[in-house]
Amino acid sequence: MNTTQRKLIIAIDGHSSCGKSTMAKDLAKKINYTYIDSGAMYRVITLFAMRHNLIKDDKLDESKLAHLIDGINITFSYNDELERHETFMNGELVEDEIRSLDVSNNVSLIATIKFVREKMVALQRKLSEAGAVIMDGRDIGTVVFPNADLKIFMTADVEVRAARRFKELKEKGDDVSLDAIRENVQKRDFIDENRDESPLQKADDAIVLNNSYLTKEEQLEWIVTKMAEIQ
Ligand code: CDP
Repeated sequence: MNTTQRKLIIAIDGHSSCGKSTMAKDLAKKINYTYIDSGAMYRVITLFAMRHNLIKDDKLDESKLAHLIDGINITFSYNDELERHETFMNGELVEDEIRSLDVSNNVSLIATIKFVREKMVALQRKLSEAGAVIMDGRDIGTVVFPNADLKIFMTADVEVRAARRFKELKEKGDDVSLDAIRENVQKRDFIDENRDESPLQKADDAIVLNNSYLTKEEQLEWIVTKMAEIQ
């Protein structure tokens, strides 16, 4: 595969907790592409809104967030020691906090807001200007990069997805129940698919991958094959 000649844009969309970021990161590492986690951006805005008490009873104070949003600076860097991608909010490392169930419970609400999406999409495009990018999210193949070179729409059974997220949070030491996670995953799917602004939907030219019974290695092999076909 010659990845130096054509710097592709690869878009991976799909349901909550189905392993998009795992596949995207594995592929980025294998072919030396930049991985961009668009969900982390919505999570940062959510954390910011929570810290400023802008969310009460599932309602957001939109005008206050609109007023404050330009003061939120989102950056990413790769931590060589920990071998992980890290997210920063105004210079503060927030990688673990943005993955908490509390943030997950509020993020889909924040992601319905038009001005939030416009700002995030602009940032996503800016970070991708050099090409050779793999980005995962909900609207990457439909809105952010409608001309992406390869579009994948990923999904997996709800029970499998909840179990994966449960294991991940447990390993981090979070005190969570499988029932609470399943509920969060289903609720987020519903909001993501039914919102007015850029709802989660498969782009017409996306290839579907249901990875319920695939290992990490098998899904990587699957996407590497798809890439080879378009190179
Ligand atoms: O990794 P996980 O599937 O839990 O979600 P994520 O990719 O971190 O995204 C968190 C939430 O942000 C999603 O449930 C969506 O509501 C929202 N999101 C979005 O609306 N558009 C994107 N491009 C990425 C995420």
